[in-house]
Amino acid sequence: MQVTLRIQRFDPEHDSAPRWQEYRVDADPMARVLDLLHLVKWEQDASLTFRRSCGHGICGSDAMLINGRNRLACKIRVDQLGRRISVAPLPGLPVVKDLVVDMDGFFAKYRSVRPYLINDQPPPVRERRQLPQERAVFDDTTKCILCGACTSSCPSFWARSEYVGPAAIVNAHRFIFDSRDEGAAERLAILSDRDGVWRCRTIFNCVDACPRGINITRAILEVSAAIVERTT
Ligand code: SF4
Ligand code: F3S
Ligand code: FES
Repeated sequence: MQVTLRIQRFDPEHDSAPRWQEYRVDADPMARVLDLLHLVKWEQDASLTFRRSCGHGICGSDAMLINGRNRLACKIRVDQLGRRISVAPLPGLPVVKDLVVDMDGFFAKYRSVRPYLINDQPPPVRERRQLPQERAVFDDTTKCILCGACTSSCPSFWARSEYVGPAAIVNAHRFIFDSRDEGAAERLAILSDRDGVWRCRTIFNCVDACPRGINITRAILEVSAAIVERTT
């Protein structure tokens, strides 16, 4: 089928502001938006710039605003979108070129919550053991691929870019509730800051955007409850 792909372009060397450019491509209904972007780049316009790596929803590098919603270009298909498809960079983040955004601030916030196991006890001979029910408490938040779709869809983040954002909270949750970890107090102190969890207004855009189906708002509320529990 014929698909009209409307892509937001921006080349900092030539453009003073973003502009839209249309391309027509022959596409199979089961083709993914990433396939269409490749078709344009390989056959019509080699200057089109976008990030991708795995092509299968694992690396998180090709999150974009597709028909008005944050999606992974390698996961969403033509038959889910129709004959007119618009593609723009993730909102709320500085555009580097075309569909590529600057993720430095996003990853700085991710690092700020210390997203790794903290445990100063000498390691046991074989492993730090954990019961299945202890693992289940944070199973959902282990699924994050750091695509940025949640944080960049959040109106609280658009209003105040200092907000640590849902992705960082999800990754803090993953360790705060890990029975083997001893860094919860430190992370909860970081997230009780005025740009921490209290900036969330339970708008749920993040849940809609997450390609991994993580219940982000529930994770944020669990972290908020843990902060309250520690301070009362
Ligand atoms: Fe992407 Fe979901 Fe992780 Fe947010 S929580 S960065 S949307 S995978
Ligand atoms: Fe934003 Fe998600 Fe909270 S969209 S306001 S982080 S529920
Ligand atoms: Fe890796 Fe889409 S290219 S998630």
